[in-house]
Amino acid sequence: MDTEQLDRLNILVVGSSNTDMVIKAGHLPRPGETIVGGTFFMNPGGKGANQAVTIARLGASVTFICKTGSDIFGHQSQQLFEEEGINTSYIFSDSEHPSGVALITVDDHAENCIVVASGANANLLPADLVKAEEAIDQADIVLMQLEIPMETVEYVAEIAYRKHKKVILNPAPAHPLSPSLLKHLYMITPNETEAEMISGVKITDRESAVKAACILSEMGVENVIITLGSKGALVYGAEEADFVPALKVEAVDTTAAGDVFNGALTVALSEGRSQLEAVRFACKASAISVTRVGAQSSVPYRSEVDIFE
Ligand code: RIB
Repeated sequence: MDTEQLDRLNILVVGSSNTDMVIKAGHLPRPGETIVGGTFFMNPGGKGANQAVTIARLGASVTFICKTGSDIFGHQSQQLFEEEGINTSYIFSDSEHPSGVALITVDDHAENCIVVASGANANLLPADLVKAEEAIDQADIVLMQLEIPMETVEYVAEIAYRKHKKVILNPAPAHPLSPSLLKHLYMITPNETEAEMISGVKITDRESAVKAACILSEMGVENVIITLGSKGALVYGAEEADFVPALKVEAVDTTAAGDVFNGALTVALSEGRSQLEAVRFACKASAISVTRVGAQSSVPYRSEVDIFE
């Protein structure tokens, strides 16, 4: 990959930034249960931030728009984004709300459950994005998720669409989407649960995944990629539907695997790769991430993905 190619497009990520408080325990707690004997660690997270960090580590030019509290977590995040080489010119600081925090439990099977206190993320509003319009102007691809207010996602998608930018939405966590938002998207990348919520089709096998993708496409999104966990991903476009298998790895923590997938997918698309090639690249990056614990602590670098088989 030559540097000229990597410099070609600018990616803008608009989304959340959290600090993750993680406990690795034998199993996920049932309601009312106390589990003793876990190990604790803290690391930077948030779906938006995880995707921005992935894009930076994979060598593309990325601007990240988010809102953090004016507190120690917010200051730490800002510093980390700068160290990653992310453009932080549009990171807003909120004096009234704390930075986002996620409480995460990870079990012995690498599964997790996550509770997010959104804090300042929930206060990233269209009025902030008006101040960041230059960032949208300078972007070629805009990547978003759903851990910020829906009105902000809809605002950015509409403005970016009108400016002929490619808008990719990773609709996580699952939430119903308005018809107008869907029409402003170039690509949508739900997992099975999210695809089911938006399309109304329960995904149980390849056939139902294709049916869900077909409905999403009929709802107005040109390109649909459904991630299927350890079963890989479905790439659904105007011409064809292809399944890309996941790579077999020893998973220890699946937190942020979807974020790494989306960041890597966007980088590969920005380099002019086909959707199929981009999904293969994203599957490699997310396979590496699940072999490591944590969110941003699990994000691979370009050199690691390029040699991964
Ligand atoms: O997708 C994983 C992320 O979800 C975590 O980093 C956590 O902060 C939540 O946003």
